[in-house]
Amino acid sequence: MPLPADLHPDPGCWPDQLPQEWPASGLGDNRAPFFVPQFADGTEAADLRFAAAEVLPGKYSLLGLPAFWGGGETLKVTLTDPAGLTVYLYYGVFEDCDLITRAAVLENTGTKPLTLHGVPSAVVDFARKDLDFITFDGEWAAERTPHRAPLRPGVQSVGSVGGIPLHYHTPFAILCAPDAGEATGEAWGAALVYSGNYRVQAELNAAGVRLALGIEPYHFHWTLAPGERFTAPEAAFAYSAGGYGGLRRCFHNAIRRHLLRAPWRDMARPRPVLLNSWEACYFAFDEAKLLELAAAGKKAGADLFVVDDGWFKGRSDTTSSLGDWVADPAKLPGGIPGLCKKINALGMALGLWVEPEAVSPDSDLCRAHPDWALHIPGRETLAIRHQYTLDFSRADVRENIWQQLTAVLDSAPIRYLKWDMNRSLANVYSAALPTARQGEVYHRYVLGVYELQERLLARYPDLLLENCASGGARFDCGMLFYSPQIWTSDNTDARDRMLIQYGTSFLCPPCVMGAHISAVPNHITRRETSLAARAALALTGTFGYELDLTAFDEKTLSELAVWSAFYRAHGELLRGGDLYWLCPPDTEKRGAAWAIVTPDGSEAMVFAAGEVLDGRSLPLPFADTQADYTAPDHGQTFAGTALRTAGLPLPACEGDFPGFVLWLRKEETAKEKA
Ligand code: DGJ
Repeated sequence: MPLPADLHPDPGCWPDQLPQEWPASGLGDNRAPFFVPQFADGTEAADLRFAAAEVLPGKYSLLGLPAFWGGGETLKVTLTDPAGLTVYLYYGVFEDCDLITRAAVLENTGTKPLTLHGVPSAVVDFARKDLDFITFDGEWAAERTPHRAPLRPGVQSVGSVGGIPLHYHTPFAILCAPDAGEATGEAWGAALVYSGNYRVQAELNAAGVRLALGIEPYHFHWTLAPGERFTAPEAAFAYSAGGYGGLRRCFHNAIRRHLLRAPWRDMARPRPVLLNSWEACYFAFDEAKLLELAAAGKKAGADLFVVDDGWFKGRSDTTSSLGDWVADPAKLPGGIPGLCKKINALGMALGLWVEPEAVSPDSDLCRAHPDWALHIPGRETLAIRHQYTLDFSRADVRENIWQQLTAVLDSAPIRYLKWDMNRSLANVYSAALPTARQGEVYHRYVLGVYELQERLLARYPDLLLENCASGGARFDCGMLFYSPQIWTSDNTDARDRMLIQYGTSFLCPPCVMGAHISAVPNHITRRETSLAARAALALTGTFGYELDLTAFDEKTLSELAVWSAFYRAHGELLRGGDLYWLCPPDTEKRGAAWAIVTPDGSEAMVFAAGEVLDGRSLPLPFADTQADYTAPDHGQTFAGTALRTAGLPLPACEGDFPGFVLWLRKEETAKEKA
């Protein structure tokens, strides 16, 4: 309990009992320090005081960093420390989706260098203690499972020191009231718009709860010469009194409208139905196999054929060739232009896989420039998945990759690029930076990735970029600024995907989740699931295929073509609708039901999978009790009141992990007709 003021000799001298907007270390706020500047005299204390506030027109942007865009005004608050530090706090307001963004720019206003050892993007103090902390955690092939627990005294945090967010945690967390659930109760969400090392930290202390998020302080030191500035990545916050369902809709709208960019933002352009070669043939293909696969894909209704890993010089397994971005003449005698012409002749567009940040020790690039991989002089460089990581903090390294990528992209009309990243960073040291600045490498690396993706999009504005990192190891708001879709997980098993996509959906809308129908038994889990369940999960995402369609007969291909046509016909609803988890999956993944509903309520797509398909009825909380609904594909009509109270009757299904998809259309109400 904070001391009552009358028992306290001087309330002003207890800073750790007071809420702080930008807490600093060393001057009496004894909660876990996140912001740690070090001045030239060795002190690690900052005494920041309010100096000015102004409202600026438009939403701020951040040089070299991803950020939500659009929005209304910006509040800029200036704090100064007489020792020579000024902090500019920026607040962006998005009234249309109830989102507030924050960013901080730090300037050395002194006469000597100053070093930043930890910089949060934002800190929020809650004057209450009874809050639950929800984080999204997992591992490869099981990303972003929600974990919820009441906060206990002290610091609880999630983060990454692997250079990218990794599979284990997500740069997003929720604090909520103990009684909050899917549709009720207070919930606060905080997302970091960043794709590198990060920390999201909640501290239950004597005064309440402090939530802080930003770049992970491990191996982060950034020295500012007098007059220099450092920009911290953006953080985005939403609040809902309608549980995490309400919170989810704030973030979904904000991401669709204000983070994705033209031409893919919002519902501006339909996404292609994609056929990816990875699970169809892995590295074992030549041009004839690819053309056969693409031809079958065309029959299944795919628009875009993506050649995944294995198309470049000498690549026949994971042990070589990353960094040599030239088509393998043995597999593709006509090169990429030759393949593209043939794919286009089938009536499909071509897309390619690349892993620009990686280099194989067995590659021409590595032989020519052994010092371009991140490595610590005098120590063995760790190869993970037989590959090193290029030092993307270096402009000359990025320039080489840029030249190679643009040579490929200029050689043929390539409409899509899958940018993969299959390992964590290790041996983090840059040969191009002096000893004292090695603490900048992790962050400069991320800035380098952003710079190259920005450059690509500026040169190829119509390119559909899909980020990926061994599945979903870099699924964050930072990457979404560049790519409107991210490969959600290497696990394409419908039953596992249900939980992965559920967890991902606390922050991200379905339209950004890479999701494909794959083969059964599933390549990772060996599990059988129904086609309807696999289709339901793919429709709750970007929709595509990832299986060897050449093994299917004409009848099966035309069944798939019906699903492709269904996705195309309902694209606006699926991409732009509000997501409701009507019966969320549990960790046993027995089953779930969910719906995507147009914001005006005129249409809904209802999905169910697994054990919920046992003949029960599923109440639809969004149903208008004044209206009737039809299921045009089944010739059924339902009264809105019945759907809302008694519920939609679900079929009782037999077999392995059944699935159900139903399109509902609201009929005009009597009032609307009048
Ligand atoms: C990991 C990705 O997640 C897969 O989809 C595939 O692209 C492989 N890498 C290729 O190496």
